[in-house]
Amino acid sequence: MSRIEVSEVKLTEEEIQAAVDVLRSGNLRQNGQCEAFEREFASMVGAGHALTCANGTASLHLAYMSFLQPGDEVLVPSFTFMATGSMVAMSGGRPIFCDIDPETFLIDLGDAQRRITERTRAIAPVHLFGNPVDAEAVGEFAARNNLIVVWDAAQAHGASWGKRDVGSFGDFVCYSFYPSKNMFVGEGGMICTNNGDYAERMRLLRSHGESGKYCHTVLGFNYRMTDVEAAIGRRQLLRLEEMLAQRRANAHILSAGLAGLRGIRAQKISGQGTHAWHQYCVLVDPDEFGCSRDCLAERLQEKGVASGVHYPRGLHQQPVFEKLYGLSNLPVTEKTAQTILALPVHHGLTVDNAKAVVEAVRQCRG
Ligand SMILES: Cc1ncc(COP(=O)(O)O)c(C=O)c1O
Repeated sequence: MSRIEVSEVKLTEEEIQAAVDVLRSGNLRQNGQCEAFEREFASMVGAGHALTCANGTASLHLAYMSFLQPGDEVLVPSFTFMATGSMVAMSGGRPIFCDIDPETFLIDLGDAQRRITERTRAIAPVHLFGNPVDAEAVGEFAARNNLIVVWDAAQAHGASWGKRDVGSFGDFVCYSFYPSKNMFVGEGGMICTNNGDYAERMRLLRSHGESGKYCHTVLGFNYRMTDVEAAIGRRQLLRLEEMLAQRRANAHILSAGLAGLRGIRAQKISGQGTHAWHQYCVLVDPDEFGCSRDCLAERLQEKGVASGVHYPRGLHQQPVFEKLYGLSNLPVTEKTAQTILALPVHHGLTVDNAKAVVEAVRQCRG
């Protein structure tokens, strides 16, 4: 069997053709594809507004720049990708790193509550690996503490909480279309919001604060998406459900096959959530499994199965944040970072591939 990769980013012929059509049209500026992608994405997730932008990092930056004041604090789970925290800092705020739940790997609201101060302005829950955070609990938490919610859904296209898509909740929902994500167009991002004022402000910030031709009413960026990427994204929306179904089928095989294997524990799916399976992550207990996380990764590699470590340290352990804010200690994040491993689950994986991954993990037991 050929090597089993940890993600797949092949575009379909139709997606490639959609990009070529834009290139052939001579319209290298935006000319309708981005707006159409926004309408279709908003309609799919049930959001009031959706805005395309350059990438997921830009989507977070636009969200924070539209409301954050200097010195405002934002509660951020430490176990996430860099941009969730760095965009708070780049917008003049301070990320306050919170610990995670040891089973779901999602923000621990109890820990977050203890970190509230009079400067706390927002919370940034991350649907990590596609596992949705409890939207009702976050809604109550935000209402109780008078906070804005900036959801990081970069890894959660297609996830839902209860009957609602995660893109339909709250103030801001930020997505990435980076290759490796559940939707991938090259570089790209999307922000959903149900607040017309935020949408208007982010539209301005996205394009130099220009409210009329060469009339700039606020300072902004060039964070626009191109029509090439939007055309790919529009086409890809048509197969998102199919890709998600394959991810779910693969996750099901992995969960069934690894259940009861001592020393391996998979991410727990949150209560009423539908997981989008961006990653299938397990914790490796070296004593029980007889082999550490890194040793399992090496043994899998020898068997032709790729794996990944997301993430090897919490944000509070990143040198730049240690320098900015000093040392801190978040025990669950730190332990998780030492023992976590992502196994292949992507939409390009066949049922036989998923079974082969299970078999390979079982054979690696020391
Ligand atoms: C949780 C999370 N937030 C934000 C981002 C940033 O997205 P992008 O790489 O498109 O800038 C990513 C992408 O890796 C991510 O995984």
